Amino acid sequence: MEKEFEYSTRNVTIEDYDAVFALWNSSEESRRAMNPVDDTREGIAKYLERNPSTCFAAVKDGKIIGVILTGHDGRRGIIHHLCVNPEYRRMGIANRLVSLAEEALKKEGIQKIFGLVFKDNEPANAFWEQQGYSLRTNLNYRNKSLNEDIPMGE
Ligand SMILES: CC(C)(COP(=O)(O)OP(=O)(O)OC[C@H]1O[C@@H](n2cnc3c(N)ncnc32)[C@H](O)[C@@H]1OP(=O)(O)O)[C@@H](O)C(=O)NCCC(=O)NCCS
Repeated sequence: MEKEFEYSTRNVTIEDYDAVFALWNSSEESRRAMNPVDDTREGIAKYLERNPSTCFAAVKDGKIIGVILTGHDGRRGIIHHLCVNPEYRRMGIANRLVSLAEEALKKEGIQKIFGLVFKDNEPANAFWEQQGYSLRTNLNYRNKSLNEDIPMGE
């Protein structure tokens, strides 16, 4: 019988930045979701200061193998980055990280969560569908950048 896969989970801290940044960079799907301002060490430090209890890492043998960055604005929960090391996918790690983030957001009084997923990221869209995140079809996503270093996107 296959031995149960063992790993632990905990909140992300800024000391994890290098490992988390490397993980995000290891997959094109997560690399393209980053920008050169919000995902710097300073940007992530600012994010974690505001959202210290809702970001989680999965850790195996001291190494971060999965991460979710989630926060809220006092009204809605927002999922920003979710990534699992390719060697450890389809083992339920993202599912666990999402559950932890949802529980933490609920504890903060948040009742609804959203996240943005590139339309052509089929595995991620399949994942979010399986997690019960429905696709909104009556909204257009509009944004405006207040910093010329952060692209508006297509
Ligand atoms: C999307 C991602 C986070 C999923 O992580 P994971 O740990 O492999 O996901 P889980 O094992 O928890 O999957 C749970 C369920 O989601 C669905 N799912 C996950 N990956 C899938 C895939 N590649 N294709 C189809 N369905 C998938 C399945 O229903 C799966 O259950 P099953 O394995 O019993 O069939 C991972 O593929 C990843 O890191 N991708 C690159 C970064 C990325 O795209 N992030 C999302 C940005 S929004």
